[in-house]
Amino acid sequence: MKYKTIKGVQDILPPETFLWQEVEQTAKEIFSLYGFKEIRTPILEFTELFVRSIGETTDIVEKEMYTFQDRAGRSITLRPEGTASVVRAYIQHGLSQLPAPQKFYYIGPMFRYERPQKGRYRQFHQIGVEVFGVDSPDVDAELIDMIRAFLQRIGLDSLSIEINSIGCEQCRPFYRERLIEFLSSGVDTLCNDCQRRYQKNPLRVLDCKVPTCKEFIKDAPRITDFLCDGCKEHFQKFQQRLKALEIQYSINPEMVRGLDYYTRTTFEITSNALGAQNAVAAGGRYDRLVESFGGPPTPAVGFAIGMERLIVLLSELKPPRDKGPMVYFVTLGEEASEFAFKELSHIRSAGFSAEMDFRRSSLKSQMRRADKAGARLVFIVGEDELSKGIVKYRDLREHTEGEIDKQGVLDFLKNFNF
Ligand code: HAM
Repeated sequence: MKYKTIKGVQDILPPETFLWQEVEQTAKEIFSLYGFKEIRTPILEFTELFVRSIGETTDIVEKEMYTFQDRAGRSITLRPEGTASVVRAYIQHGLSQLPAPQKFYYIGPMFRYERPQKGRYRQFHQIGVEVFGVDSPDVDAELIDMIRAFLQRIGLDSLSIEINSIGCEQCRPFYRERLIEFLSSGVDTLCNDCQRRYQKNPLRVLDCKVPTCKEFIKDAPRITDFLCDGCKEHFQKFQQRLKALEIQYSINPEMVRGLDYYTRTTFEITSNALGAQNAVAAGGRYDRLVESFGGPPTPAVGFAIGMERLIVLLSELKPPRDKGPMVYFVTLGEEASEFAFKELSHIRSAGFSAEMDFRRSSLKSQMRRADKAGARLVFIVGEDELSKGIVKYRDLREHTEGEIDKQGVLDFLKNFNF
């Protein structure tokens, strides 16, 4: 085989695509109950958008972006995440002038040049949401409630929720200083990346996955001990709301997330069944980002679900299965085949999935194909049947059979208990 997918990207084939469709459909249904509307932004953006929002010293920007020059010499990047683009669109189209809150969801591929492994790909898919215009922690809790409702509906309810607050521009500088002091005391134990960036972006060390860094930061000062009154109150109210909704969670003071734009609330939904890449969904507040892009001061919060990880968990619970057609026509002779061909179109437009064998093979092999295709009902039509004005049917599940008037195929289907 000459051509194959490139490393870290994958084809998604049926029957797995049925699971993807189910997940997407469920997200759309649940999210619309919470007032979210779909937004579709381009996959390509100017590189600067991601550098300025995600942060220059993050792994994503330093090592993982698919960046190239277009034919006019502009630096373009395949989006590594969705938030920056939604913020850009929010400002570009003046959506801040609409009544707050503005709530959006998006579904689509993202690109990060990471080392591929189970649950980590170079092209992956997110279902994300962003809420603009409300600073109340009620929204943060409402988002967690919505993730819970979504996960429950698709049948995943044993995931853990970890939350944290990473402060704001008032309190974080104090914490930053203390953290740099702490990191300086053991700089030799840090990995090369962290040694290079801890002065500029010490919070990144807390997010580092290298074991020696992880071990060292166990004794690091905790951000939650440095929160200003406003952030403390926000974090407390957020938790109060979670408790009111009877949502189980734990506080993880080391969770700072891999993107620089967050303020206050951060959270991750994890599963033990996933191994190292255990975050199924993650998000948080980013109250300064809209303003830093030139928009009006606008608090915002959102999250994104990693679809590949969700699908891994789901397919273990219910392996994806091919859906067969409701009806399969088995025909003998040209006249019967024409009759079936017309009926196919007729019953499909009435909402019944239907197939026939265009290969004009024997009755026996057509029956075998109907069975293999997973059809529920087979209609058998030959010259004999047509001259009697009937169609024979066989129910492949219940093993029953009978005859119906050839004019009455659609009525029969409408009354059939599929
Ligand atoms: P993130 O934590 O970078 O956040 O990604 C969110 C989720 O996308 C992860 O929890 C994971 O499930 C999935 N994911 C990330 N990278 C990969 C990968 N290489 N392969 C497979 N799945 C992956 C964001 O992207 C933020 N934009 C979320 C957000 C929205 N925050 C506020 N609003």
